[in-house]
Amino acid sequence: MAEPTSPSIELLDLHPPAGDLRADVLAGLAGDLPGAASDAPARRIPPKWFYDERGSALFDAICDLDEYYPTRTELAITRDCGGEMSMHIGPRALLVEYGSGSSIKTRVLLAHLRDPAGYVPIDISRDHLRASAARLAAEFPGLEVLPVCADYTRPLDLPSPSRIPGRTVIYFPGSTIGNFVPADAVDFLRVAHDEAGPAGQLLIGVDLVKDPAVLVPAYDDPRGVTAAFNKNLLTRINREVGADFDPDAFAHRASWWQDPAVEGRGRVEIELVSRLEQTATVDGHAFTFAEGESILTEYSYKYSTTAFAQLAAQAGWSVVRVWTDPNRLFSVQLLDRSEAR
Ligand code: TRP
Repeated sequence: MAEPTSPSIELLDLHPPAGDLRADVLAGLAGDLPGAASDAPARRIPPKWFYDERGSALFDAICDLDEYYPTRTELAITRDCGGEMSMHIGPRALLVEYGSGSSIKTRVLLAHLRDPAGYVPIDISRDHLRASAARLAAEFPGLEVLPVCADYTRPLDLPSPSRIPGRTVIYFPGSTIGNFVPADAVDFLRVAHDEAGPAGQLLIGVDLVKDPAVLVPAYDDPRGVTAAFNKNLLTRINREVGADFDPDAFAHRASWWQDPAVEGRGRVEIELVSRLEQTATVDGHAFTFAEGESILTEYSYKYSTTAFAQLAAQAGWSVVRVWTDPNRLFSVQLLDRSEAR
């Protein structure tokens, strides 16, 4: 079926590096990938490789699970508090979204904003970006949509809308900030700080620390959807790199780890645990796993509002407002640049 298109949409392609699954897997299984927490298991595979076609479909199914509260809670907060968000943001904002995906929450936010100067969705997936930018432009006819295909974790030059914006607002929903280890989260928040400019703001979704009895099932549901999502990474590697993993010889594990150094900060650790001693071959390279040895596939950090404010302050941001749901499961936070106050 043809996508609704808008002839005015032009995509700025900053040619992000293609990335290399094979190189990441070989280095990750050898324990040579930089950037994990110092206490991490030696072996890890970066979470960005979860999202092949089946992985993306399974992730959509995760978002619909009763146990997985973040997506629907953040959407409800945006729906209920979008008017207040808009009041703090003011008129003619340029909304810049990092990792825009299908922009579902963005539609709700945009509907609340007063006369936005433009919308800049940034995503690494070119085809998905082009299609969803065109769809959004068709739904918001007066809105200037300026999609950028880029890796948003690196500095980039934002396109300018034809009207002078009141301010730039960087939008980063989904609690994706929690998938960075704290040191990397601060680096990333600094990049956003520079990009936002002097009057800039950051509107960010942050998942809150809570009872592990609620947190862990969100990442390990009884129907096994999350387990299938995690193991699909091995199926993908088998197919795309040429490996012989038996996904059923690994168990999905999600566990809560409270950071002993920082009150109000912890993470859900998502791993694939070898059920037995086994050897897998990846493009001719043999890797032996002991029984119980794990491959780390993702961290999902959770913060108290105080712990997140401290993290953001290290990157020059100060918290203007925090919106949460009645059960305080999730937060959407508006930050501005401290020195500009
Ligand atoms: N960014 C999401 C999160 O941290 C990704 C996610 C949800 C995820 N469920 C998962 C990643 C299960 C790995 C396994 O909430």
